[in-house]
Amino acid sequence: MGKEKRVAIYPGTFDPLTNGHFCLVDRGLDIFDQIIVAVAHDSPKNPLFTLEERVEMAKEVFAGEPRIIVEPFAGLLIDYARKKKAKAILRGLRAVSDFEYEFQMALMNRKLDPMIQTVFLMTDYRWLYISSTIIKDVAKLGGNIHGLVPEVVEKKLLERFGKKGQG
Ligand code: COA
Repeated sequence: MGKEKRVAIYPGTFDPLTNGHFCLVDRGLDIFDQIIVAVAHDSPKNPLFTLEERVEMAKEVFAGEPRIIVEPFAGLLIDYARKKKAKAILRGLRAVSDFEYEFQMALMNRKLDPMIQTVFLMTDYRWLYISSTIIKDVAKLGGNIHGLVPEVVEKKLLERFGKKGQG
């Protein structure tokens, strides 16, 4: 009998995807056979990029890695995870400030389905201080975000806000 594939869902708004997200997915592949990067349709964050743009950017970033699938999702995360036969939800933790929110989500998701575990990985120290919001703020004001986001994302941000950030 073949071994069952260990599938994890990595959910988020990804507005936009940063090197922090990328690094976490990359490390997640050491644990899981397949990771589904699930881009949230509904977000209270009022995203800068449309759902299609966020999905497209993430697809470009992970192109060439067959173990990673990028998809949009709507509704309850746990329903989506069940539909995808995922064993786990993968989340990153940066600092103490992330903990309370992540703890609450993990417990609620476990209440909704105790068979799906939330697995946390500590963000690499290089990305501890970045978030999608801070990247957007810096790019908008013409600061240099090179090396903090994948190239595809950098290009898209420069297109959106103009090329002031270069150099
Ligand atoms: N390194 C650096 N930064 C990171 C990071 C990493 N490894 N991982 C996350 N971040 C940052 C992100 O850039 C983001 O920054 P922002 O707040 O400035 O946008 C922040 O941490 C958290 O974002 P993300 O990981 O993308 O998650 P989210 O909070 O945007 O997504 C959902 C939350 C979509 C997963 C959650 O709302 C959800 O599950 N929704 C579906 C509905 C549902 O089921 N609700 C009940 C849940 S119990």
